[in-house]
Amino acid sequence: MSTFAESVRAQFPILDQQVHGKPLVYLDNAATTHRPLVVRQAMDNFYAETNSNVHRGVHCLSQRATEQFEASRDTVAKFINARESAEIIWTKGCTEAINLVAATWGRANLQAGDQVLCSNLEHHANLVPWQMIAAEKGAKVVPIPISDDCEILLDELEKLLQTPTKIVCVKHVCNATGTVNPIEEITRLAHLHGAKVMVDGAQALAHVPVDVQSSMVDFYAMSAHKVYGPMGMGALYGRREHLEAMPPYQGGGDMIRTVSFEGTTFNEIPNKFEAGTPYVPGAIGFAAALDWLNSMDMAGMWFEEAELLDYATQMLEDLPGFRIIGKAKKKTAILSFVHESIHPHDMGTILDRAGVAVRTGHHCCMPLMKRMGVPATSRASLAVYNTNQDIKVLIDGLKEAVALFQ
Ligand code: ALA
Repeated sequence: MSTFAESVRAQFPILDQQVHGKPLVYLDNAATTHRPLVVRQAMDNFYAETNSNVHRGVHCLSQRATEQFEASRDTVAKFINARESAEIIWTKGCTEAINLVAATWGRANLQAGDQVLCSNLEHHANLVPWQMIAAEKGAKVVPIPISDDCEILLDELEKLLQTPTKIVCVKHVCNATGTVNPIEEITRLAHLHGAKVMVDGAQALAHVPVDVQSSMVDFYAMSAHKVYGPMGMGALYGRREHLEAMPPYQGGGDMIRTVSFEGTTFNEIPNKFEAGTPYVPGAIGFAAALDWLNSMDMAGMWFEEAELLDYATQMLEDLPGFRIIGKAKKKTAILSFVHESIHPHDMGTILDRAGVAVRTGHHCCMPLMKRMGVPATSRASLAVYNTNQDIKVLIDGLKEAVALFQ
């Protein structure tokens, strides 16, 4: 193992354990990454030294909590190059961020007969909220077709945009196949036809550069636990003009300016969308994770991940009976595959006995599975702490599965 890999892995003691008597090989990073010690420490420190509610107290601890909370918002804004921190809304995850847009922007803007476009790669999180609001409004959700390699077909998107469209919903990186979508080009096309763009960025933040200004997207949803941060935490980026025009999401404390039985007025963004006591240590942990990433050589890290993906792809292609699902030209380190006779759930169980954690199933992408003609896949998803040795153990586990079933 290289000294770089060793020094990274030392920050993730959870990796240093055995499962079923075998050293753990964790290849389920698209479901959730682990957290480096600095993230856990930052969250512990909040509870140990500061723990107070934000935006509510004149006392010292409350003010300190508010400062840390708002500094965390600044960190997220900078990380994705938002114009200003007020464009970052805290949510409990990427899913809630998308639901927020569907429930507020969608409810205010969709009308009967309107078209919403969702790519065939979409996670249920960027499809079902749109189906729900479309059903309420009498709008229709139409799929954007993809190629056999799992890339969005831009010429098909252009054709679909000839019908007036309110919003185009795409993920930046596909959780099931690793496809990196050209969100700049998709946004350019959508805007040309007067449509807004909602990007699900859950899988992107840890693996590709994100710049919401240069990509011009309207909304970008994020998840902390997929980028080495805490579970139950996420954020929504929205352009100021959209957020200001949108009605609030939930009612409660902090989102109001004045309340009376005669009528209530609402706070400015971002607070307008943040009713109730927020998950303050979550915000602090999210920022600590991004600071930790910023402290690394991200380009170098992503290069290493790409090398590992190439290595794993090559090894898998050399194994008879296996087929890779998702061969986009631009991919992050996600390897989804099926075997001609072994069901992914059996494959996952055998790998687990070998100490290897992968995800098996539809990956919350049932329309994608249908498009690819498979009920499910096995998915190995890599992160900064994975090594060549992890890939070798995965491949040995796959050979073992084949031997067992023959
Ligand atoms: N969306 C997560 C995954 O792809 C849970 O595994």
